[in-house]
Formats: sequence, C-alpha cells, structure tokens
Amino acid sequence: MAAPSDCPIVTIDGPSGSGKGTISRAVAQKVGWHLLDSGALYRLVAFAGARAGLAPEDTQGHARLATAMDVRFGADAAGSERVLLDGQDVGREIRTETAGQGASRVAAWPEVRAALLRRQRAFATAPGLVADGRDMGTVVFPHALLKIFLTAAPEERALRRHKQLKDKGSDVSLAGLSREIAERDLRDETRQVAPLKAASDACVIDSTGLGVGAVVQRVLELGAARRLWP
Ligand code: C5P
Repeated sequence: MAAPSDCPIVTIDGPSGSGKGTISRAVAQKVGWHLLDSGALYRLVAFAGARAGLAPEDTQGHARLATAMDVRFGADAAGSERVLLDGQDVGREIRTETAGQGASRVAAWPEVRAALLRRQRAFATAPGLVADGRDMGTVVFPHALLKIFLTAAPEERALRRHKQLKDKGSDVSLAGLSREIAERDLRDETRQVAPLKAASDACVIDSTGLGVGAVVQRVLELGAARRLWP
C-alpha cells in the first residue's frame, strides 16, 4: 500500500457518465488544488498504442508506452482543455467513446496499471489534489482524506455522455452509446485488477436528478467537515 503523503487528497471515483470529470474539475477549481484525470491517461495509452501500430493484445508494448509517453495537461487561451501527447494536442481524439472502449481494454492489464501508478501518484503535490477515476480511493490513493463514489442511474449517465459527445461534435446514437457504456462499466467492474468499486470508507453520492452545483456543494461540505478547506 502507498505511504501516506503530506499532500491532502480527495478522490472521486465512479462509473462512466456519473459526472466525475465535471465535478472533480469544479471542486479543484473552487479550492485551488491540482486535478488528476486518470481516465485520460488510460485513453492516452490506448491512443498512443494504436498510433504506434502496436497489436491490440501487445500488453508489454502498451505498458512501455504508459511509462515513456510524454503527457502534459493544460488549457488554451479560451480555457478549453488541452491534452498534449508528445507535444501534439490530442484532446479531441481521446474523448470519443471508441477511445473510451480502447482505454477500458488496456486498463484491464495489470502491467499497464502498474506502469501508470507512479505517474498518477506524482500528481499529489501541494496545496492538494482532486483525483478522478475508478480506483483512486481503493488503489492509487488509499490514504486520501476524503473519498467520494459518484453514481447516477444508467439512463441518466447515458444521456449525460450523449450530450457531452454531441457538444463536442460527435454524432452518436443514444441507444448505441447506452450499450457501449454498459459494456465498458461491466468490463471495469469485473476485471481482476483494481475493479471499479466504492472504497469501504467512501461517501456515496447518487447524482440522479441533481445538478452540477448541488453535487459540488455536497463535496465541498464533506471536505469542510474534514477541515480540508474553510
Ligand atoms: O474516466 P474515463 O471514461 O475517461 O476512463 C476511460 C476508461 O479508463 C474507463 O472506462 C476505465 O476502463 C479506465 N480507467 C481505469 N482506472 C481509472 C480511470 C480510468 O481503469 N482510474
């Protein structure tokens, strides 16, 4: 198990479309902490593997990429997300549902998960970190001071992802997306290593029917109760 670090950490785990990304970003911004979008790292490994022409089942090759790839997260002048892989912005390419499926496939391999562990832990720097993913509270940051497990009804998660993809210019059918999300969640929940599940000490928030503001407020209250911020 990882040694506790001095840096305060909040983990936000949950299935696809639960709103983790939006909530984590908003909370990190509100309290001025760093953000780790761990899903983007798995998406990047799958993307970099395909770009390098690796065979889909080349576990070791993908693990080497997970260790060696040059990744930088940032924002452009308008505040839109930028994800730089070897200096090239691939933010759009890695956000498709196809890229999500590729990520979920490589994420089931212990070699890839092990290779990404150190990279993820390096995000824990002062003044604090909000870490978004599937195993942040269970494996990567087991000593986190606040662990959230964010869920929502499957239909609502599919609708949210559908809107998100449409806003980014992807024309996908809702029915097809619902099937793909269910498939991805099942793979994430049933894999042998670091499956998607709530940590035993996590606070579960069901965001069905709740707006972003209400969920952010709940997380801020939970953090304040633990004296993580005023
Ligand atoms: O969160 P996002 O949808 O970007 O994650 C893409 C995929 O990456 C997930 O479906 C999951 O398989 C994998 N993942 C993971 N562990 C994490 C974050 C993401 O296995 N901590």
